[in-house]
Amino acid sequence: MSKIKIAIQKSGRLNEDSVKILKDCGISIDNGKDQLKAQTRNFPMEVMFLRNGDIPQYLRDGVVDIAIIGENVLIEKGKDISIAERLNFSKCKVSLAVPKDFEYNSIQDLDGKRIATSYPNTVNQYLEKQGISAELHQISGSVEIAPNIGLADAICDIVSSGSTLFKNNLKEVEVMLTSEAVLAVSPKISEENKDLLKKLQFRIKAVLKARN
Ligand code: PRP
Ligand code: MG
Repeated sequence: MSKIKIAIQKSGRLNEDSVKILKDCGISIDNGKDQLKAQTRNFPMEVMFLRNGDIPQYLRDGVVDIAIIGENVLIEKGKDISIAERLNFSKCKVSLAVPKDFEYNSIQDLDGKRIATSYPNTVNQYLEKQGISAELHQISGSVEIAPNIGLADAICDIVSSGSTLFKNNLKEVEVMLTSEAVLAVSPKISEENKDLLKKLQFRIKAVLKARN
């Protein structure tokens, strides 16, 4: 019998809640985290633990059939990938922030400035729409340190509790998008696995309903 391959985040903020929602769907993962690939009980499924940023490409290539991923990652590098279900956890914003003493009045103030981010496509599209051009510095983590070390005038990153901005003396000035965890689907999923996806979605819907 066919098994549906699902990607979930290997480590990071989505990992725990992703495992939890599967568990609430009655699907328990054998071993889990220490393996890159794990089998499940009670559902024909194989779990792959992957890095967030790699998941859109794995979906595109059909290496995995579905994934639990932050919508913000799909907006950045997986606009072609479809969403089957919104999962109502890991809610966050992707925002622009500047040092607290930056006298910010409008987005115009960022014209020609240096912005550090892990989300270059998202930032570029946002700025383009506003008719602004900035110099982007792409870094993969700890983005909020950039203004303090003189690398950038502003940053764009995920804001959840806001504590990372606060600790780094930054203030949020523009919310570019809001995001939550979603169930994403590979364009290459087989008909057989589409049926499994339907069954899984049925369980997910019930779980989400019970949580509300
Ligand atoms: C993420 C994100 C922000 C922070 C937002 O970073 O990049 O920096 O969380 O959360 P908060 O508003 O609750 O502080 P993470 O800690 O995952 O590390 P990384 O940037 O090095 O990937
Ligand atoms: Mg960070």
